[in-house]
Amino acid sequence: MKGVLICGGTGSRLKPLTEITNKSLLPIYDKPLILYPLEVFARAGIHEVIIISGTEHIDQMGSFLGSGARFGCNLSYRVQDAPRGIAHALSLAEEFAHGDAVCALLGDNIFFSDLSPTIRSFERGGHVFLKEVSDAQRFGVVELKNGKPVSVEEKPAHPKSNLAQTGCYLYDQRCFDIIRSLSPSARGEMEITDITKWYLDHGELSATILDDEWVDAGTFESLYRAATLVRKRRGKTQEIAKEKVQEVLR
Ligand code: DAU
Repeated sequence: MKGVLICGGTGSRLKPLTEITNKSLLPIYDKPLILYPLEVFARAGIHEVIIISGTEHIDQMGSFLGSGARFGCNLSYRVQDAPRGIAHALSLAEEFAHGDAVCALLGDNIFFSDLSPTIRSFERGGHVFLKEVSDAQRFGVVELKNGKPVSVEEKPAHPKSNLAQTGCYLYDQRCFDIIRSLSPSARGEMEITDITKWYLDHGELSATILDDEWVDAGTFESLYRAATLVRKRRGKTQEIAKEKVQEVLR
């Protein structure tokens, strides 16, 4: 499986922070946002990763991440000339994927759950990770019946469930053919939700509900929440480590 890290777009909801800095390079407590999705890949044993970003920011990505060696992966880069949608960004990874399945991650998502067992065992079709939210109309929304997805809609005005589609997508190699068959949505973008919908319509979509926190850090509030959560968890980890040391000393 190959990793695709999708970091283009305009970051319009975070202006002026994103005027000269890519959203994924903004700080979340003590490190840039992009390192959190990169950790998801590392944990799942995905070492071949392509970064997709816009013309304005691709050079910043390259200067910070370089070859990826210091983050335990081998990075390639590809420019998305205009923000034509997340599915369009993914389509640029076709040559890189070279017939393999992909794990596509959005560069502004932070996962506190461990996704790696599901990523490692993925074989065919599509798989999405869901999280219960109180503002589902901001997201792609998936409705489940007996644990199986029965509908998926992008930012519906009247969501059929409170399960948001998070920014981690597992697709087999057919996703690139599927993207070729898609048309832009009413807002003029190639929607990743339409790829997911294809797998749903063909009875090949599965889903996991995440049991720990998840943040789409695309707004000021969620960026702040992400930093607070990371700091809180970091503190806890350090306390646990301290307790362990004390146990050993006792
Ligand atoms: O975070 C989860 C949500 O992400 C999903 O629930 C939605 O179904 C999905 O459409 C997406 O919604 P957002 O409104 O959060 O997407 P946003 O425009 O913020 O883009 C997400 C990432 O993709 C961000 O890092 C920028 C990048 N992107 C976006 C577009 C439109 C690209 O690289 N190229 C693009 O053309």
